[in-house]
Amino acid sequence: MAKNNRNETNSRAKLLETLLEAQGEIVPGSQLTQRLSSSRQAVFKTICALREEGLPVESIPQRGYRLAETENLQALSPTLIEFFLLENPLFKRCVYMRETDSTQKVLKKMAAQDAEGGVVALSEIQSEGRGRRGRSWCGAPGKNLTFSVLLRPKLKPGEVQLLNLAAGLAVKESLREYCGIPAELKWPNDILCRGRKLCGILSEAAGESDRIYYAVTGIGLNVNTAAEDFPEELRASATSTLIESGRSIPRWKLLIKLLERFAVYMELLASREGAEKLLALYRLGCDTVGREVRVIQDGETFTGRAVGISAEGALIVLTGEGEKIFAAADVFHLRMA
Ligand code: BTN
Repeated sequence: MAKNNRNETNSRAKLLETLLEAQGEIVPGSQLTQRLSSSRQAVFKTICALREEGLPVESIPQRGYRLAETENLQALSPTLIEFFLLENPLFKRCVYMRETDSTQKVLKKMAAQDAEGGVVALSEIQSEGRGRRGRSWCGAPGKNLTFSVLLRPKLKPGEVQLLNLAAGLAVKESLREYCGIPAELKWPNDILCRGRKLCGILSEAAGESDRIYYAVTGIGLNVNTAAEDFPEELRASATSTLIESGRSIPRWKLLIKLLERFAVYMELLASREGAEKLLALYRLGCDTVGREVRVIQDGETFTGRAVGISAEGALIVLTGEGEKIFAAADVFHLRMA
C-alpha cells in the first residue's frame, strides 16, 4: 500500500477508535487533533472520509463530534470492520469496493503481488460475480454479503475442498448464533434453509503438485434480500436471513461473527488432528450425509446413498456399483434415507 494511503487508513482507524471509546459521547475537536497529531482541517477531512464509508459521525457545533449508534448500521465500513477484526487472529485487512468485477479476481491479483493471507475483499456489486462451474453469481446491492478472503493455508491441491467445509461450518454457526437460523450444509458448498439456497461458497487455489501458494474463498450470502428482490426464476429456490428470520440485520456484525468462526476452523486445518476434528464436525453437521442423492459429474449421473466425507473433503456415495468418491460434483438431495 502506498505511504499516503497507509497514513490515511491509520488516521481513520485512530479517529474511529477515539469515537468508539467515547461510547456516543461528544469528543472535542482538540482531542481528535491531538490523537491524530494533525490539524483541524486534516481531522475534518478524515471525518468526511468516515462519513463516506457510511459511518454516522455527527458534528455538534462548538463542542466536537460524536458517533451515533452503529447497532443497526447497514453500511459496510471497512474502517469499522477492521476495528472489530483487531481481535481476529487471521483476518485483519478489509478492502471495500462499491463495485468490482469479482472479489475473487481482486484477491487473486493481490495474491500474485504477494499480499499476505487474511485480506477480506468486499463488494456491493460484482459485474462478473462467479459461482461454481462457471455459473454467474449476482445479488441485490447493499443487501447481501458478497466477499472473498485470501488464504495461505498449508494444504495440497487435492485438499482445497476442505476450505469450503471450513467456510460452510463458519457460515452455518454464525447464522445460528447471530440470526437464530437453523441452516443446512449441502455438500460441497451450499448453505440452505428449508431446502432453499441461502449462501454459496467458492474456493479457488493456485499452486504446484504438492502445495498451494494461495487460495481465495468467496462467499455470497443473502442477508437483507426480500423475496421480491430475487429474480423471478430464483424466487422458489433462494432465500435470505431476512426471509427466514423476519428481521433485517446489520451486515457488518454478521460478517465479523462469520470471520471469527472461519478463523477458528482455519486454525484447525493447520494440524492433522485439527483437520480431523473439523471433518468430524462437518460430517455431523452436513445434511447431505445419510441422504439418497443424485450426483452429476462430468455429464454422468449416479444415484446412491451419501455415506460419508473423505479426509480430503470429498463425498462418499454408496451406489449400485459400489462406493464412489466425488471430489467435485453437483449433488441433488432425494428423499431421506
Ligand atoms: C456457488 O454457489 O456456486 C458459489 C457462489 C460464490 C459467490 C461468491 S460472491 C463473492 C465471491 N466473488 C465471486 O465472484 N464469487 C464469490
